[in-house]
Amino acid sequence: MSNPLFAELIARRYGASTPEVLREFADTANPVLETLLDHKSVRQFKKEPLAAGTVELLATAAQSAASSSNLQAWSVVALQNEEHKAAAATLCGNQQFIRDAPLFMVFIADLARLYWICEHEKQPTEGLEFFEMFLVAALDAALAAQNMAVASEGLGLGICYAGAARNHPRELADLLKLPSHSIALFGMAIGHPQDDLKTTAKPRLPQSGLLHYETYSSEQWPTEIEAYNQTMAEFYESQQMNAHQSWSQSSAKRVCRKESLSGRDVLRQILEERGFGLR
Ligand SMILES: Cc1cc2nc3c(=O)[nH]c(=O)nc-3n(C[C@H](O)[C@H](O)[C@H](O)COP(=O)(O)O)c2cc1C
Repeated sequence: MSNPLFAELIARRYGASTPEVLREFADTANPVLETLLDHKSVRQFKKEPLAAGTVELLATAAQSAASSSNLQAWSVVALQNEEHKAAAATLCGNQQFIRDAPLFMVFIADLARLYWICEHEKQPTEGLEFFEMFLVAALDAALAAQNMAVASEGLGLGICYAGAARNHPRELADLLKLPSHSIALFGMAIGHPQDDLKTTAKPRLPQSGLLHYETYSSEQWPTEIEAYNQTMAEFYESQQMNAHQSWSQSSAKRVCRKESLSGRDVLRQILEERGFGLR
């Protein structure tokens, strides 16, 4: 018997561009895949608090992610106190969903522990001064965060990332009392989604636009991107959202100027201020 939910979840991601071969999996019944395929950012939360132990359970899921050389060069700060969370929300793009969510997790690229360990082990810290180590910390944090996102959604909670945590990194570091050699990368609001949410999963680029076999090819970009602009226009219409621009127009606008970066153009300088070597 086919599993209509799974086939529908796949179709929602790609619309008309759904790869034919995925029909093979229409009968799949797998809660992990269903959770992954059904992801959508949630920005409307109930006032309802999270069950006791949820923060620790989510941290366990996050810590279960792979980690480069098992260095675990990340940390997370859980904000639940209303005033503290509101102060963070103000710094993170003044986004209301951060205030409304019962939990706001701030993910940290954290080399502070490794500096301490080198000192403790009476070793130099030269290797920590390279850009590679910032990248290791950022990758570890992102993998841990995505594990937390999937775990949250598996528990029936909703999440929304907040890259706006990089809009005022100095002030956010002060608020969270972050040590030198650490920086907030992004936040994640977590809570019970409001009951009447009508949002469905947002379509993604045609798979052929980013899945390459053996070698990379950009030949089909014009047709793939045009097809995606069309799919997204239909998606926004179905969600009764007014999109004044196509996906490619708004994407270009998001990256075209220094000003488009919401103050994050100074991030490299702030990383250096916070003790990251970036050699
Ligand atoms: C690292 C990261 C930062 C994000 N920052 C924000 C943010 O500050 N505010 C917001 O409303 N959404 C934010 N998002 C959510 C994206 O807008 C969203 O994931 C994207 O539009 C795709 O929609 P979906 O998550 O519903 O599939 C962020 C997502 C990621 C991965």
